[in-house]
Amino acid sequence: MKLRRATRQDTSMRRNWAYGLALKLARVYMDRSGQRCSFAGSQLEEFTSVLEAAHKVTVLSGAGISAESGIPTFRGAGGLWRNFDATELATPYAFAANPSLVWEFYHYRRCIVAAAAPNAGHYALEALQRKCEQQGKLFTLLTQNIDGLHAKAGSSNVVELHGSMWRTRCCHCNNIQGAPEPMAKEANIPSMQLPRCKLCNGLLRPHVVWFGECLEVETMECAHNALEDCDLLLVIGTSAVVQPAAGFAPLVKAHGGAVAEFNTEDTPISDNCRFKFHGPAAVMLPAALGI
Ligand SMILES: NC(=O)c1ccc[n+]([C@@H]2O[C@H](COP(=O)([O-])OP(=O)(O)OC[C@H]3O[C@@H](n4cnc5c(N)ncnc54)[C@H](O)[C@@H]3O)[C@@H](O)[C@H]2O)c1
Ligand SMILES: [Zn+2]
Repeated sequence: MKLRRATRQDTSMRRNWAYGLALKLARVYMDRSGQRCSFAGSQLEEFTSVLEAAHKVTVLSGAGISAESGIPTFRGAGGLWRNFDATELATPYAFAANPSLVWEFYHYRRCIVAAAAPNAGHYALEALQRKCEQQGKLFTLLTQNIDGLHAKAGSSNVVELHGSMWRTRCCHCNNIQGAPEPMAKEANIPSMQLPRCKLCNGLLRPHVVWFGECLEVETMECAHNALEDCDLLLVIGTSAVVQPAAGFAPLVKAHGGAVAEFNTEDTPISDNCRFKFHGPAAVMLPAALGI
């Protein structure tokens, strides 16, 4: 069989096909989910008119949006790796105690993500961005994800609140560089054989914000600009327990903006949300956005 590069037309056909499928699935999901689905009728109409009227639209996405691309979330099923709790490995303490193990963990996650493709939820947000920008609206996509799938779907100027698994940072001089070549898979790699900084030979670490660490000041400024006076905030696939992103919905609500949550479950911020779309983001987003 002959292989050829995907053309722009192929990509757009695939995208249309994905949207069509998502809409069909949404209907099936709505039919089957009964009470739990708050999708149909007046809520959708009201959401659509708030979206139409909004001048500034901000999106906060979390691990749930990439779940249907096959990338495990940290909480819930998939939160374990070799019997380690993923949330305990993504910490500076775990890296200080055992850098080899944490490197292996990120190597494993990068392999999963490298083989993954964006799903209809990622594409729906890319289409929303294009639509908002054509209409002269301000649009910002803030993500807690480190997988790069929003950019792979075509979204631009994505604010990566928690960094990227595709970049590394030197623990010694803070120099940021690309991901290293994959290292040996065995445990207990001696520290001197772990990826090293090209400038100073210091130990490299993934350039991501681990639990217990602070976000970069510039990133926080971008997020605050996007949230200030925002008319509509979409909160997608986040358990809303990780600060500071967990505080974004209450902040927007406090200044009179509307919040719409897309999640398969209720979260601590659900009560701050005017709109709740229960269900998988890859199904609910295209259907709710009408894209
Ligand atoms: N893909 C990634 O880049 C990735 C994956 C896992 C964890 N992380 C990191 O871990 C931290 C976790 O915080 P978080 O709140 O983003 O994730 P989380 O793992 O804490 O929570 C995931 C949320 O997504 C919801 N969810 C699961 N499947 C869904 C679906 N199909 N559609 C909609 N919602 C769905 C769950 O109910 C849950 O509320 C962040 O710091 C993030 O950087 C990133
Ligand atoms: Zn260095």
